[in-house]
Amino acid sequence: MSSFKITLNELDTPVKVLFTGYLTTVAVGYLFALIQILFTHGMADGKFGLSIDDIVYSYYGNRSGTVLENKLEGSMKGKASEQETFKIIQWVRDGASQNEFVNQGIDKIIDAKCVMCHNEDAATIPDFDEFENIKELTMEDEGATFSSLTRVSHIHLFGISFIFMFVGLIFSFSTTASSYYKSLAIGMPYAFLIIDILSWWLTKLHPMFASLIMLAGGGMGISFAFMWVVSIKEMWFMEKEWFCKAESACKQRAKVVFNLLIKSLKFIRVTVAPKGLELLKSLFAKVYNKMK
Ligand code: HEC
Repeated sequence: MSSFKITLNELDTPVKVLFTGYLTTVAVGYLFALIQILFTHGMADGKFGLSIDDIVYSYYGNRSGTVLENKLEGSMKGKASEQETFKIIQWVRDGASQNEFVNQGIDKIIDAKCVMCHNEDAATIPDFDEFENIKELTMEDEGATFSSLTRVSHIHLFGISFIFMFVGLIFSFSTTASSYYKSLAIGMPYAFLIIDILSWWLTKLHPMFASLIMLAGGGMGISFAFMWVVSIKEMWFMEKEWFCKAESACKQRAKVVFNLLIKSLKFIRVTVAPKGLELLKSLFAKVYNKMK
């Protein structure tokens, strides 16, 4: 045993503030990451919420159909009437030829129901004024592309390992758990991160690996939450009687934080939420009008 040991509880307040600031910011970042996952992958099967199907569709693709069909039954559902949607899908299944595109009036449906968004001004979605761009979407839906996977893989590996470097380092000064459990908690997110990203590639090859993505992602979240809670508790609320002793400075702080939490929840409910909703509505109207 060495005689020099840092414990979170005994750190100088400025260092505690530094660590707490970092942990809080990273936690908010994590929250946004979850929201982003919900909105990109979560909608893949046309229903809100993340499911195994979403993951399979995102990485392996939905190979029972083409991108165009899957979108018309997924996130583009309701953009055209049921009859029009049926006509488009029939045309795709009949070979998606350019002649039939005009003969069957598919071009008119696309012009009337899709081009208001899918035009040359739209940066991230295909322009349906060009037949080639539509034709491309009538191929088998194979999910994530090789180039998008390589890009996202290296960004995640570099970025997330850094987050867990500092979260783990802060947590390593904690004393609640034994060295053995601490080592487990610190090592786990790295193992999960590698498994997670490996399983994206495996899922691209075979859909049975989709549940591995969920498992690894969940494991990463749990280790993050565990290290986060223990670190914060030890810095600010460390006293043995599970949380805080009565009449202690710790109890005082807990009260302040609790009151702050209640106040901010009230503030969000009374002030932020209605204003935010209004802002969102006007923003939505603006975007909608632009797309029209
Ligand atoms: C209100 C605007 C809007 C309308 C109308 C619209 N789309 Fe989309 N479309 C989008 C947006 C935004 C995306 C990208 C997000 C997504 O994939 O869900 C998209 C994506 C797609 C994609 C996936 C493109 C890709 O590269 O993966 C297809 C296919 C598609 N739309 C087909 C259609 C068809 C067919 C219609 C008409 C029946 C239509 N859309 C009408 C906004 C629109």
